[in-house]
Amino acid sequence: MTSRLDGPLKVTGRAKYGADHNLPGMAYGYIVVSAIAHGEIRAMDVTAARNAPGVVDVYSPFDPVDLRTPNTMFGETWVPLQDKEVTYYGQPIGLVVAETYEQARDAAMTVEVTYHERPALTSLRDGISSAEDAPPGFDGSSLTMEILARGVSSFEDALRASPVVVEATYSTATQNHAAMEPHSAVAVWDSDGLTIYSGNQGSNLQAMELALALELDPSSVHAVNPFVGGAFGGKGRTSVAAFLAAAAARVLGRPVKVALSREQVFTATAGRGATIQKVALGATADGSLTAIRHDAWSATPMDRSFVEPASHSTREYYAAQNLAVSQKMVPLHIPPTTFMRAPGEAPGSFALESAMDELAVALHIDPIELRMRNDSAAPLGKDLLWSGKHLDECFRVGAARFGWSERTPHGRTDGDWLVGLGVATAMFPALRFPASVRVTLRDDDTAEVATSGADPGTGLLTVLSLVGAESLDIPPARVTPLLGDSALPPGGMSGGSTGTASAGSAIMIAAAQVIGELQVLASSPGAPFDGTEVSYADGHVLADGRTMTFGELLRAVNRPSISAVGSSSPGEELTKHSFSSFGAQFCEVRVHRWTREARVSRMLGVFDAGRIINAKTARSQIIGGMIWGVSAALHEGLEIDRNGRLANADLAGYLLPVNADIPDVDVHFVEYPDTLHNSIGARGIGEIGTVGMAAAVANAIYNATGIRVRHIPIRIEDLLT
Ligand code: MOS
Repeated sequence: MTSRLDGPLKVTGRAKYGADHNLPGMAYGYIVVSAIAHGEIRAMDVTAARNAPGVVDVYSPFDPVDLRTPNTMFGETWVPLQDKEVTYYGQPIGLVVAETYEQARDAAMTVEVTYHERPALTSLRDGISSAEDAPPGFDGSSLTMEILARGVSSFEDALRASPVVVEATYSTATQNHAAMEPHSAVAVWDSDGLTIYSGNQGSNLQAMELALALELDPSSVHAVNPFVGGAFGGKGRTSVAAFLAAAAARVLGRPVKVALSREQVFTATAGRGATIQKVALGATADGSLTAIRHDAWSATPMDRSFVEPASHSTREYYAAQNLAVSQKMVPLHIPPTTFMRAPGEAPGSFALESAMDELAVALHIDPIELRMRNDSAAPLGKDLLWSGKHLDECFRVGAARFGWSERTPHGRTDGDWLVGLGVATAMFPALRFPASVRVTLRDDDTAEVATSGADPGTGLLTVLSLVGAESLDIPPARVTPLLGDSALPPGGMSGGSTGTASAGSAIMIAAAQVIGELQVLASSPGAPFDGTEVSYADGHVLADGRTMTFGELLRAVNRPSISAVGSSSPGEELTKHSFSSFGAQFCEVRVHRWTREARVSRMLGVFDAGRIINAKTARSQIIGGMIWGVSAALHEGLEIDRNGRLANADLAGYLLPVNADIPDVDVHFVEYPDTLHNSIGARGIGEIGTVGMAAAVANAIYNATGIRVRHIPIRIEDLLT
């Protein structure tokens, strides 16, 4: 149980986030955004802005900054001010740079834009008739697939032949990551190139994107950001603020800071698209699934750059002979969409796990029993067993801990409150990305573990020190972890719940290498163990009954430090097993008989996520994820009107839970290290906490009230009778 190492710096305000950097001679940029959702910019009159007090320069599609659109690991990254087409309300179309932030903002208000406006399509429901097939997912696999049992001629036949069928349509709202730190950047150039301070999920990836956009050698971009105020997928790509600050600072020859307002974060970055999902489940009377169908339609921006893969993970959940999943995208005039915590799994599990609850009701089977009866040994259509799966244990342990046996099919009452219990399965794939880490031993008996990756609040910094200490067999207090700097070995991306497994594996490799070098050094000519093979343990080398700490040895051979870089990437294991984390989500909801307010009163998540490196930060991660699930179920939803305007692009109208909305959250891990996945045995916990939670809330509301709400967020008006 280690407290996060960056905690004291954060709570005392000493941690410097991107916008906290203030440099001599710095100018401030304010972004101008479009006031229509669809059309062409005919003219931009910037005369008043240019003449406003303190204004240094104004950029627009008519007077653009020098940027190219880079092609990156995510495909094309959108770069602002490159053309005059507007495809969503709130699209960045200009940048005003002035001596102060206030001057830039005031001048930006005077920019007069003339549009040729065209009709906008902004509603998923209205656009569904123009749906298109989604391209393959991020990993290249098709988002549409059908599996039929031998002798079955069509999925519909299989469904029709099922003794019990439930079929329903579910929908989920547009969401924004709403990280506490708005997207911002401070850019400064010198003779070596660009230095950029801007919160992100992988400083080396940000440096690469900026180098491509600015047509520079990647070695001339130095991205620095050890602290990131939340990301959740929303800082995976380089932000508009970073592109514009870097380009403006280059032409102006002085540092430039650009920070988005909270309202701009809702449109000028990217969020999660709304979904409509149809699920059909066929089963035998005893609750064995015979057919699973999941069709999803996801809102996507006009550039079709990201499609929320809502039905994709359904093939992993349960055993069934017949499966049909499909994914459509519906291009709309809406702000960009991107990865957002459990992309696909979060909205997808709301639909699937609500449908499982409906099936349990139809069959008069306990919802946990129904899930256990359909346990899968491998994803459907992929004949590789799970490396380890203890979902049954999660449900058993959870049921006992939560008091599930007290549940009745129709809830219970407590005074004026209707009380219900709900459950859902949670799954999230266990992945790894390539990562390199440098491990250094110093002559003062301390060590350093360094990688370019990011800790956007995940606890990765603390994990680096713990895994480093374990690998070097020294106390964590003697290990300094470093990350968030593109000059360090490339650590990949803090996304996809991969940070610990990716960096952790690389640390073990680097540590073994540096210990090997230390041993060679110890027995080299003239060294204290000249000609003798030494062993290493507990921070010491040992031979012939004589020991020295590594610091003593380094001092004896006059080496201030030695280091090694270890790299790891996913490989052979992928040909042998399927990998996923699993969980059982439990929730108790109280719905007030008269006011119909719904309040979550108890929550428990039990997870099988491999080895847990640091119980404290792991628990925090999962709590955060579970709260996200409650938030999706009862609070969050961006309202986009038919003109494309966001009606609630602020933290007053875009509802997020506060402390009073969230009870104590109970988290439990069943811990089975997964060394088939990677050598440290950890599978990843960043996203699974949110998966299934929204369904658990909706299922508990059904149990309490008998009202099945098939959309989220669920509001008071949905529960009026
Ligand atoms: Mo995230 S959606 O794993 O960046």
